[in-house]
Amino acid sequence: MDPLHNRPIVLGVSGSIACYKAVDLASRLVKAGALVDVVMTANATRFVTPLCFKSITHRPVVDDLWDTNAEMAIEHVGLAKRAAAILIAPATANLLAKLSLGFAEDALQTTVLDTRAPIVIAPAMEGDMYGATTTQEHIARLRARGVVFVEPESGRLASGLSGRGRLADAETILGTLRATLARGGDLAGRRIVISAGGTQEPIDPVRIITNRSSGKMGFALAEAARDRGARVTLIATPTTDALAPPIGTELVRIGTVIEMHEAVRAATAEADALIMAAAVSDYRVAHPAEQKIKKRGAAANGLTIELVANPDILTETVGDFVRVGFAAESEDLLANATQKLDKKRLDLIVANDITGAGSGFGSDTNRVILVGRGGVAEELPTLPKREVADAILDRVAAILATRQKGER
Ligand code: C5P
Repeated sequence: MDPLHNRPIVLGVSGSIACYKAVDLASRLVKAGALVDVVMTANATRFVTPLCFKSITHRPVVDDLWDTNAEMAIEHVGLAKRAAAILIAPATANLLAKLSLGFAEDALQTTVLDTRAPIVIAPAMEGDMYGATTTQEHIARLRARGVVFVEPESGRLASGLSGRGRLADAETILGTLRATLARGGDLAGRRIVISAGGTQEPIDPVRIITNRSSGKMGFALAEAARDRGARVTLIATPTTDALAPPIGTELVRIGTVIEMHEAVRAATAEADALIMAAAVSDYRVAHPAEQKIKKRGAAANGLTIELVANPDILTETVGDFVRVGFAAESEDLLANATQKLDKKRLDLIVANDITGAGSGFGSDTNRVILVGRGGVAEELPTLPKREVADAILDRVAAILATRQKGER
């Protein structure tokens, strides 16, 4: 479930030229199902009209603390108390200074001062203003109070100059907001390691042995775990390069099975769960050629490549954490999956028939059967990979909860 769904979010907008980007943020928040109340500073209304935000959110926009005719005039108190989170984007140097010092001169400052909800701030301003010692001091003060910052990007600024000060992109801002909201989720504080994509084994400097795994399932798992409050390490192969890494997760890029093995070993040192969604090559080339293999000499009429077995990462990575495997099968789905569950001593195996429509490699949906210890199977309908991810994490959260109870 998206942590923004049905959550009251205050979107604070201050007077930077990046104001127009806040319109897109408001729209994305609404699309994600958030209940968005926009609070604007007076300067922000010079760049974008309140009507623009009102048309997107279908709710009144608070832009004046003193308008006695407006039903929202004293609403800031209600907003401050009701908000699940306050997102301020863009935040100007002036607003950061006011918030750091606790000013309550307008509706936005008052709302921030009056709330106990988490606050996420995305600054945007001219590069030297952002770098100024005073601005950095205000940011440090706010950070020390628990405010989460989404750093501006470097690039060309509205002034025509280049520098760090451009509002972070919408996905980064919303990813950070989701991660902040997820602090109360059912996986809060848990460390989850997820592998994604297809490994690549070199034959020579040009060729590789790989597979059709896109990594979509692993990335959906990482995003879903983050949205439930987990600290996620995502170990990803180059076949996932087209996917946007979920904001707020730790991304470790590897290529070969040996590299993945090492990354999994390091990441699981303190993990609560390991989910191996990656398609791992069972074999690697015994002696990868240092130079490109030419179609002449011994290889003129054919080529034999010697393969050696790779370690089974899941089987070899044991410890006091929940272990989940995947079984991509083209026949005898349940029997093969149950066999793997036992052989690899897993807590859960996610079996999918890769021959089915809307299922398996590269698809945005998946049709799986979840098989737990003792062979108890739950068949899910064809679902978006994100929903499959949440169903898997429901099981992981339940196993972790029972283990904790048992420890007491
Ligand atoms: O035995 P099979 O390869 O079908 O098992 C699939 C499961 O085992 C997946 O979760 C996959 O990530 C994992 N695996 C592994 N190391 C291997 C091969 C597969 O961890 N060498």
